[in-house]
Amino acid sequence: VNQGHGVKGLAELGLETLPYQYIQPPQERFNTSHEEDNKDSIPVIDMSNSNDPHVAKAICDAAQKWGFFQIVNHGVPTHVLEDVKDATHKFFALPPQEKLKYSKEQSVTHNVRFGTSFTPEAEKALEWKDYLSLFFVSDTEAASLWPPTCRDQAMEYIKSSELLVKKLLNILMNGLNVKEIDETKESILMGSKRINLNYYPKCPSPELTVGVGRHSDVSTLTILLQDDIGGLFVRNMETMKWIHVPPVSGSLVINVGDALQIMSNGKYKSVEHRVTANGSNNRISVPIFVNPKPSDVIGPLEEVIASGEEPLYKNVLYSDYVKHFFRKAHDGKATVEFAK
Ligand code: SIN
Ligand code: FE2
Repeated sequence: VNQGHGVKGLAELGLETLPYQYIQPPQERFNTSHEEDNKDSIPVIDMSNSNDPHVAKAICDAAQKWGFFQIVNHGVPTHVLEDVKDATHKFFALPPQEKLKYSKEQSVTHNVRFGTSFTPEAEKALEWKDYLSLFFVSDTEAASLWPPTCRDQAMEYIKSSELLVKKLLNILMNGLNVKEIDETKESILMGSKRINLNYYPKCPSPELTVGVGRHSDVSTLTILLQDDIGGLFVRNMETMKWIHVPPVSGSLVINVGDALQIMSNGKYKSVEHRVTANGSNNRISVPIFVNPKPSDVIGPLEEVIASGEEPLYKNVLYSDYVKHFFRKAHDGKATVEFAK
């Protein structure tokens, strides 16, 4: 397959069958392996009164039990979310040669990357997805190197969600007996950020492939904006079945990443999730990955193991952890083994 124009390029050829490179092994497909949990649902938490202890409790409980929750009345203005969704559609609608300026081969910086699938070199079967990944370094770099079609909207979304990120991390840290987020903690919790614009084209044989394979995020927290198409599924750790995260208008999906699982010594769970391919619609999503700084060493927080509990993870350099994640294909929750 010519990956040069991305999956969107392939989809637009009007293929009637899925190219074999995208055919997932049966156990990774949704029709055969996918046992759906219709009884439970991921909590939707109203944050209009974020100082309310009940809200804090709901957030900490969800981070422990599900590793995922949705929030409404979160303070990020609706127009900011709508603008970044529009900008995502505009970016992927650009002619191939415009997008390819940001490909691995042509991009002037590795902080800006247009790509397809996840790790095509390492994957046995490819994923039905294109993306633009933007690692945030500074406003100046974003203004000069990010694609003009979407840079302002992406920046605005990052800036407008900063206060929310701080609120969430404060609440989650309080739940671990960490009373104050000092400078060092601020760096290991939220010292770097990446925003991805994801595009999942309509697929000729969605039952044979995936949008994104099973994985957990390597972030501290992920703030995910999805459109109204649906298709994100999360592992229920009790039943091992998959739960759909239904699109809720105006909401954001929040999930715990591996870095927070490690720092919390396993209290907060970084949970496996996956995205189905869709036979009738294109889908977009826009996650912000709130991460430790690459040069930070992460491990169970002092306050957490002060009670004498056994550390479940060793200290690792965060950039090594991320490198390990990107060297392989998506493989469920296997990345965290690197910190054991
Ligand atoms: C991901 O987890 O990689 C993407 C989630 C989504 O598109 O909803
Ligand atoms: Fe993810």
